[in-house]
Amino acid sequence: MDEPRAWWKEAVVYQIYPRSFADSNGDGIGDLNGITAHLDYLHELGVDVIWVSPFYKSPNDDNGYDISDYRDIMDEFGTMEDFDRMLEGIHQRGMRLLIDLVVNHSSDEHPWFVESRKSRDNPYRDYYIWRDGKGDAPPNNWGSCFSGSAWQYDETTGQWYLHLFSRKQPDLNWANPKVRDAVFDMMTWWCDKGIDGFRMDVIGMIGKENFDDGEVGPGALYGSFEKSCQHTATTHRYLRMMRERVLDHYDLLTVGEAGGTVEQGIQYAGLDGSELNMIFSFEHNDGLNDGTELGKWSDHGAPLNEFREIMNRWQLGLIGKAWNTVYLSNHDQPRQVSRYGNDGPLFRVRSAKMLATLIHMMHGTPYIYNGEELGMTNICFTRLEDYRDVEVFNAWKQWVESGRVHPEDMMRWFARISRDNARTPMQWDSSPNAGFTTGTPWIRVNGNYPDVNAADEMKDPDSVFNYYKKLIALRHEHLIIVYGNYIPMLNDDPNVYAYRRELDGETLTVCCNWTDRTVPCTLIDEAGGEELISNYRFHKPGLLQPYEARVVLKK
Ligand code: GLC
Ligand code: CA
Repeated sequence: MDEPRAWWKEAVVYQIYPRSFADSNGDGIGDLNGITAHLDYLHELGVDVIWVSPFYKSPNDDNGYDISDYRDIMDEFGTMEDFDRMLEGIHQRGMRLLIDLVVNHSSDEHPWFVESRKSRDNPYRDYYIWRDGKGDAPPNNWGSCFSGSAWQYDETTGQWYLHLFSRKQPDLNWANPKVRDAVFDMMTWWCDKGIDGFRMDVIGMIGKENFDDGEVGPGALYGSFEKSCQHTATTHRYLRMMRERVLDHYDLLTVGEAGGTVEQGIQYAGLDGSELNMIFSFEHNDGLNDGTELGKWSDHGAPLNEFREIMNRWQLGLIGKAWNTVYLSNHDQPRQVSRYGNDGPLFRVRSAKMLATLIHMMHGTPYIYNGEELGMTNICFTRLEDYRDVEVFNAWKQWVESGRVHPEDMMRWFARISRDNARTPMQWDSSPNAGFTTGTPWIRVNGNYPDVNAADEMKDPDSVFNYYKKLIALRHEHLIIVYGNYIPMLNDDPNVYAYRRELDGETLTVCCNWTDRTVPCTLIDEAGGEELISNYRFHKPGLLQPYEARVVLKK
């Protein structure tokens, strides 16, 4: 085996969206005590690391990704004592805690920004990015990730501040050494509290190199900031500083949310350990969009050939050079069974298991998003008022209210792809509100909870939950799943995604039928060896049944 072993390579990570996970006090909002109450569930599932999305003080313009105090807990989520208890409970069960590091921007209600906007010579002015406008227009043509201009005019001082996300998420000025010191100190403070790693929010954007107008794509309303502030050499310099000042002093899992190309991924997550342990790529979700001026809003599905080309490119590109993550779901994506599989009654369970097999047998650390292990589906709201996400409302304003897009098209795209699909409450049991809360949930519960819930699935040996449990256990048993190389197979097959892993004379073969039809496939029968897992009890020689997944190991 060439690859050096590490606990974070062998681990499976489970992401919790705290607002939607479990409400312990009946106010309709998930909280830290709710998480603590369900640690046995996560332990039973077998995951090694729990990533909790932001739980810091926040006015919740973007559900906690807008932080007003990095060293305190959001009122709705509990207290620092609750946090300490949660951390202790995680460690007691032999699991680890990954926390979200959101330092490209803060909330506009953070005391730094409150000071910063007071006057041009305030000591905190340079904590953020302030510029003069061009006459009445913003300093440049950049659009924000959440629609509209990336600049907001502030009357008090007559200047504009940069916000690559919402107006309430002003970008921190990393060029200011005081900002870097403050962030590094805060990280050290959490490390000393005993956390085990950081998931770094949009970390590829921290190094802004210039403020030149960006390219305006066909039909687009704003220019792109890509060239000036995505994956710049400056960002890599800051990450190396962070490595030296903080990360090198602890045994951590670090994962960058940075997307980009394979080459850029390698720079962040290179095996030399100079920056981060691993990287989230976006191509297999965002890259599958139509790429029009509407960005992610489109009808584009997930055709096997496009998806496979992207996944194989990342697998092959990173192996031996950098460490990958493998995932299909998180709080920014719709539910994976709805997007890549089939959430109808006939195939929901089969296709959820097929997708899980495909991902968990790949090279890289797998990330499971809460509810994925139950096969939870998109809710597909039909009324705008059911949504809660700032991204949805800003997109509505920009495209529908301006008359550019028909409301019906937009509602259809929201139902397919909006982030709120993944943010509906966790389905614990078949009691009212799926056992998530005794109060009124902050966002509607998916009506299918009587059929899709943790309590029932834990009892059912054929459930999606128990299938995930088995996949996780397999990763812990077989080094080949973690460290084996990766060989794409049947690359032109229109129906089947297949690959091999090899390690020290063992061969693992994985075949997954991406369709709802029975299709020809002989590879798995020819591979021979022991079956490790499958979502069908009986196989048909030379064929794969709808969404059938099979994994065999030959020693
Ligand atoms: C990341 C987060 C997303 C958030 C954005 C701004 O992409 O995952 O939820 O809205 O950054 O912090
Ligand atoms: Ca609560």
